[in-house]
Amino acid sequence: MEKLSGPDLSMAKQRGKATAQVLKDVFEIPASMQNVGHGKTYFIRTYGCQANERDSETLRGILEGMGYVQNEIMEAADLILLNTCAIRENAEQKVFGKVGNLKRLKKENPDLIIGICGCMAQEESVVEAITKKYPQVDLVFGTHNLHRLPQLLEAVMTKHERIVEVWSKEGDVVENVPTVRNHAKKAWVNIMYGCDKFCTYCIVPYTRGKERSRSMDDILEEVNTLKKEGYQDITLLGQNVNSYGKDLDADIDFATLLEAVSKTGIPRIRFTTSHPWDFNERMIDMIAKYDNLMPFVHLPVQSGDNEVLKRMGRRYTIEAYKELFDRIKATIPNVAISTDIIVGFPNETDEQFQHTLDIVDYCQYDNAYTFIYSPRKGTPAARMEDNIPLKVKEERLQILNEKVNHYAWLNNQKYQGKRVPVLVDGPSKKNPNVLTGYTETQKLVNFEGDFHCVGKIVEVEITEAQTWALKGKMVIE
Ligand code: 5AD
Ligand code: SF4
Repeated sequence: MEKLSGPDLSMAKQRGKATAQVLKDVFEIPASMQNVGHGKTYFIRTYGCQANERDSETLRGILEGMGYVQNEIMEAADLILLNTCAIRENAEQKVFGKVGNLKRLKKENPDLIIGICGCMAQEESVVEAITKKYPQVDLVFGTHNLHRLPQLLEAVMTKHERIVEVWSKEGDVVENVPTVRNHAKKAWVNIMYGCDKFCTYCIVPYTRGKERSRSMDDILEEVNTLKKEGYQDITLLGQNVNSYGKDLDADIDFATLLEAVSKTGIPRIRFTTSHPWDFNERMIDMIAKYDNLMPFVHLPVQSGDNEVLKRMGRRYTIEAYKELFDRIKATIPNVAISTDIIVGFPNETDEQFQHTLDIVDYCQYDNAYTFIYSPRKGTPAARMEDNIPLKVKEERLQILNEKVNHYAWLNNQKYQGKRVPVLVDGPSKKNPNVLTGYTETQKLVNFEGDFHCVGKIVEVEITEAQTWALKGKMVIE
């Protein structure tokens, strides 16, 4: 079930019964490529979600293994990789805009290598557009074959022609690929790849293959190494972490994993994303039980209307969602909950949109990522009739955002005058005299404090609560 060269979305949709293979020794830098990057630099631009952020760290690890050094300035790099996102039309437009701009650079420097990877590379229409309209692109590879970057670059360098290698397959679990992380104290840890939910609007199950879990041993080894290296805050990553372990032989689920990761003693543990459908009580109890499992849950609702949820293929009713939401709030003290919401799903009526506003009033989220529905070629929703004008969808988004902002502000007011632990990221980009960091509940805090505390967890007293940030003063005792 694998195709070399071009992508194939219909093949990517297939799901077999076989468990994914764990490949521990497929990564290799051929002798001919081991020094190829000496004296050369690379630049990676990452679009989209945390899975892509994490993949870019793998790309960094591979490139630095070949001697390349990171360049902060794209225009000055010898190799440019765009790690792309396919989730909405506007994400893709941004990438095409950027590729268009790169034409000039390639003209000035014909030795420049330009590569496109990530989710967009898994789509036929994208690869077709690149092949036809963007001769400046030298290399296209997908989400399943990052580990082949040395071989692919070698092909670009020796064959002097465009190389396209995209695998449309269910996917393996590839271990032991080097990594250079973007942050010294916070790290992403993949616990599973792919998605089997097939929500009708979503391209991800096609671009990232089937759900497949890493072994608990491999995950724990990575977390223990991070701990030794001084990491303070890790986020367990998966398109739907609640499904963790379902494909493993052993009797292991996400709650078991959470407990084991908690026992490593790393100070802050987060996870994302959770599908409300298979979030169980044991997971909630586990988060409540262990102090280093952070009281923050991202729980995408998508819509507040049962008929829309059904057409989205979400597998829960709004009543079931509320029950889960209430249980999380009741069990985990001071938990913060965020969500994702889509407005303007095909033929969403005013009344159905009103139900979405109602669920926001009910849940009063700490934060919500809101989107206008964007048809994705090859998904079932893209074939649904849709008579709602874009203008109406834009108005709905605005109404929704006002409500979301109100509750974000309201939730932040609860922090006024409180003392909270903050992991210090460093000086604020906007004001270098001020430090910035995050609370356990993932709230951004800008505060006055001791610059020696960067990378540490300190107490901050909150003096002002705004919609998207808190302000405060470090407590020195
Ligand atoms: N259009 C708009 N938003 C989408 N999302 C996923 N697919 C689409 C789409 N086709 C949103 C969902 C998801 C988040 C990552 O992106 O809300 O949870
Ligand atoms: Fe974008 Fe989804 Fe791919 Fe992440 S998995 S990069 S959100 S399309």
